[in-house]
Amino acid sequence: MDIIGKEEKEALLDVIESGYIYRYGDFQNPNFKAKVWTLEQDFAKYTNSSYALAVSSGTAALLTALWALKIGPGDEVIVPGYTFIASITSIIFSRAIPILAEVDETLTLDPADVRKKVTPRTKAIMLVHMLGNPGHLDEIVKIAEENELILIEDCAQACGASYHGKSVGTFGRMGTFSLNIYKTITGGDGGMVITNDEDLYKRAFAVHDQGHLPLRQGVEQGNRTVLGINFRMNEFTAAVAGAQLKKLDYIKNKLKENKKYLKSILSTVKEIKFRKILDEDGDIGTLLTFFMPNREGAETLAEKLGCTTISKSGWHYYNNMEHFLNQSTVTDEGCPFSCPYYKGGPVKYSKGMLPQSDDLLNRAINIGVGVSDVGLGSNYGITINSSKEEIEVRGRKIVELIRSSL
Ligand SMILES: Cc1ncc(COP(=O)(O)O)c(C=O)c1O
Repeated sequence: MDIIGKEEKEALLDVIESGYIYRYGDFQNPNFKAKVWTLEQDFAKYTNSSYALAVSSGTAALLTALWALKIGPGDEVIVPGYTFIASITSIIFSRAIPILAEVDETLTLDPADVRKKVTPRTKAIMLVHMLGNPGHLDEIVKIAEENELILIEDCAQACGASYHGKSVGTFGRMGTFSLNIYKTITGGDGGMVITNDEDLYKRAFAVHDQGHLPLRQGVEQGNRTVLGINFRMNEFTAAVAGAQLKKLDYIKNKLKENKKYLKSILSTVKEIKFRKILDEDGDIGTLLTFFMPNREGAETLAEKLGCTTISKSGWHYYNNMEHFLNQSTVTDEGCPFSCPYYKGGPVKYSKGMLPQSDDLLNRAINIGVGVSDVGLGSNYGITINSSKEEIEVRGRKIVELIRSSL
């Protein structure tokens, strides 16, 4: 977002001058720039996956993946209680049942709690690589394999991240990304779905475009086996996102460098504990997160910084999802996620149901490094363009405020 400039402008002009603004066009006509198609090829290459599909948002990407994977009525999907609401609502709008699980000090799914939440009705695990940090991939992949579960990776906040050199989104059956304005690269809005499975790619394509197979050229009829919807990306979005993708390595390296420097300054305070990063090289570095020793200190610090603890930030924490809490999956009439096919007892969602996550998030402070988002409580920090001197000044200020809040 902070580095949108000349390249994006040129790519947009390209589209306007071409006369093709829809993803489909005449590949024989040199005027057609095929920005969506090109983005898909480039994204697949970047993530080293066989197929990439561009869609209209990260939420659309999740729905496309869930529907392509035939996750539906009565299926339980394990999802963390610390994630953006879309991870949960995409499960609900698939008529499946979100089963909330704890996060640990990585702020991603706690494998021990995932194991506890597996039942005979579990169909999938949705691992969310929260705040740019890849989750416990070794353990979660193992749990999925042992229990014959589908693994979906919600990489909305982790575009560019990897685990042991392999892109996030390629460990499970499908990976999804968001290109909204709070993400490492953006198209204003938009999303991507990746997979290594050709059949799944074709199903996903059909889901996102009214049941069609890749790549229709016009209005085709007949031979459609999948009911789809319209989650298509247009050429303008892809033009910007494509130009941004070319900058992703620069963005990633800069964020990591800045974060490392800021972290070294904050590390002088021994009382705070940094969020556990499982692979420092693979972390995308958009936020620096640490835990204060107690909730009171964290709240005092947040007030001084003019931000909030993570638990008081927006819709990324289940306790703040008022429209979702206090409903049950089976019994509530008219509730969008009541499911007559569900064979388990009513699943209730209530405040305080994930005590481990509550304790961590009550004490957690997010300092923005590349993402300044009130919704993440990170409306304080540095930007990708901050100089070393600026980071130093800001870092020292944060240290001073932490010390006075302990
Ligand atoms: C973890 C997570 N999943 C899904 C989404 C949904 O993405 P979008 O806003 O592009 O629909 C977001 C967006 O913030 C997210 O953070």
